[in-house]
Amino acid sequence: MQLSSVVTSPKLLLQLCISTVQCFLSSVFSKVRYWTTGACKGTSSALSPVDNKLDQKEIQNATIPTSVNYHFTRKCNYKCGFCFHTAKTSFVLPLEEAKRGLKLLKESGMEKINFSGGEPFLHDKGEFLGKLVQFCKQDLQLPSVSIVSNGSMIKEKWFQKYGDYLDILAVSCDSFDEETNQLIGRAQGRKSHLDCLYKIRNWCQQYKVAFKINSVINTFNVDEDMVESITQLAPCRWKVFQCLLIDGENAGEKALREAERFIISDQQFQEFLDRHSSVSCLVPESNEKMRNSYLILDEYMRFLDCREGRKDPSKSILDVGVKDAICFSGFDEKMFFKRGGKYLWSKADMKLEW
Ligand SMILES: C[S@@+](CC[C@H](N)C(=O)[O-])C[C@H]1O[C@@H](n2cnc3c(N)ncnc32)[C@H](O)[C@@H]1O
Ligand code: SF4
Repeated sequence: MQLSSVVTSPKLLLQLCISTVQCFLSSVFSKVRYWTTGACKGTSSALSPVDNKLDQKEIQNATIPTSVNYHFTRKCNYKCGFCFHTAKTSFVLPLEEAKRGLKLLKESGMEKINFSGGEPFLHDKGEFLGKLVQFCKQDLQLPSVSIVSNGSMIKEKWFQKYGDYLDILAVSCDSFDEETNQLIGRAQGRKSHLDCLYKIRNWCQQYKVAFKINSVINTFNVDEDMVESITQLAPCRWKVFQCLLIDGENAGEKALREAERFIISDQQFQEFLDRHSSVSCLVPESNEKMRNSYLILDEYMRFLDCREGRKDPSKSILDVGVKDAICFSGFDEKMFFKRGGKYLWSKADMKLEW
């Protein structure tokens, strides 16, 4: 129909106006519904994920898994007393199944993958991890591939073989006093955790991988001043976590750790942050910011929902697909952005000054 005939017919013009208003209102309502209830029933605090079946429309509107943390193993060689991802199983998916899951995630919009654990360098002496890192960068062409590790099992050979495919390596270090690391359990025997940290920092520089540090603030290190050591190590990002309790992991009857004695108050955490306010790369994460702002996949590739203070698993993405499983992840996308979850995460975009 010609536009001129529409304009000359008042009835048609009225219909056009009504349908435009209807279209506008329906888009506003759908946006309001998204922000108040979450796109999936599973992300609504008012509706129980178990009681509600997902209809097709809700699955289509599911959260996009932009940034995913895959804890492919729970086994570890350290014994950190506060650990919230413990060795409850020794299961690791076969390599090809893990790759299939990562491909599904990429097809659903994943841009960043972070491999964690347990200790990710433990399984198959880091070869399983290396193959996944290479697959994600080379085959899936993900903008960002990263690892969080305790650092104790990493060898220079690994960097030679897989360093090109890795954007960021985060090494956890909770204290620059060897004795405190021993007391926390962040050590294997009497081996120096700090020696590993400094060695890896240099390899990151040599093999052009962005170097990051994670620290958990707890009763053992809350009074420490880390400004000098962090300034010297110059990580691109220093994540500072307030020690978090998760029922069934590090608190409660069935837990493998009892982390209550590590817990600090919000005020103690704030005092630690104030003492380190001169460190520009510091990214703080209080319990509130941390709890639901990560998309976590466990060793079976199930999303873990932490909203109830424990880790409730979804079905595996390998069985039901990403969109169906993610509705039960409890992921708080607004908090993800609020904690600065989206940042310059590809080494190609970073000016690595080393
Ligand atoms: C579970 S660990 C797995 C990777 C590796 N084993 C490591 O320690 O870096 C992943 C991150 O969670 C942190 N973490 C562990 N338990 C925590 C807790 N109770 N509260 C806050 N962060 C914690 C670790 O320090 C580490 O940076
Ligand atoms: S936090 Fe400590 S115990 Fe837990 S996985 Fe990492 S190194 Fe192992």
